[in-house]
Amino acid sequence: MSVERKVMTRHLFLIGFMGSGKSYLGEQLAKRLRCPFFDLDRIIEEGEGNTVANIFAASGEAGFRLLERAYLHKLAYQTPAVVATGGGTPCFFDNMDWMNAQGVTVYLETPLALLLERLRGQRAARPLLAGLDDAKLSDHIESLLAKRTIYYKQAKTTMKGETSDDFWRVLIEAVE
Ligand code: S3P
Repeated sequence: MSVERKVMTRHLFLIGFMGSGKSYLGEQLAKRLRCPFFDLDRIIEEGEGNTVANIFAASGEAGFRLLERAYLHKLAYQTPAVVATGGGTPCFFDNMDWMNAQGVTVYLETPLALLLERLRGQRAARPLLAGLDDAKLSDHIESLLAKRTIYYKQAKTTMKGETSDDFWRVLIEAVE
């Protein structure tokens, strides 16, 4: 079915590690599908009037995760959209089951080396990485990714590789 004729009936949740391109690809996909795009971190920031980094600093990771779940659940009342989640969203509470029940989940599987390359320059905005030197960053990302993969693999579809025509075709086919 062509992109123009594809009508979304459920959310499409993009999941994956920090730096896997959820926000960038999500925005592109929503444009192609002519549907709304939501970035969960931005929704939390707008709703709370505060940055993710400040929320972590004030309420700790546990406080952030509670907000993250609450704002995720609010998406149930929105028209079908492409949603970029945070890297940890699928790994807390029953968020992964909830997303699989509410819509279609797509895991953007990204090689460790590429994540490292992208995240090296983006530590400040990401509280889980801030303050780590290069050696620690590499170890931390590797072990966090290993712990999280079990959740990411529960996605309905896994996407790998470059954003070729084929990539977009498969991604659009995943839309329900
Ligand atoms: C987090 C990822 C971030 C943000 C928060 C925690 C994580 O989102 O939700 O800093 O636990 O991996 P991105 O994946 O968009 O960086």
